[in-house]
Amino acid sequence: MSEIRMALADLTPGRPTLVQTEGTRVVLVRVGDHVHALGDVCAHRGGPLSAGKLSGMRLACPWHGWMYDVRTGQCVFPGRGGAVPSYPVHVEDDEVRVEVS
Ligand code: FES
Repeated sequence: MSEIRMALADLTPGRPTLVQTEGTRVVLVRVGDHVHALGDVCAHRGGPLSAGKLSGMRLACPWHGWMYDVRTGQCVFPGRGGAVPSYPVHVEDDEVRVEVS
C-alpha cells in the first residue's frame, strides 16, 4: 500500500486532478470539502478519467462518455457494468491522505 498526501487547498472543487503513486494513476475529485479518489483508467478502453467532466457526483470519461459515481467507482452509464477502484480518503485540517492499495 502507498499513500498520497497533499493540501486540500491544492484541489480545485469540480476539477479532477491526476496524481500518481508507484505506477498507479489516481484521480482526485473535490466536491465541497469532501475528496474522492478513483482509479484513473476507464473500465471501457482505458480513457483518462482525470481529463473527464464532473457533473454532481458523476465523472464522465472523455473518450466515450462512460460515467462513474465518484463515491464508489461504480459505472453508472446506462446499460453498462464495471467499476474503477475507489480508494479511502481522509481529510484532516487542510491535509488530504489517500490510501492506495
Ligand atoms: S474509454 Fe472510457 S468510455 Fe470508452
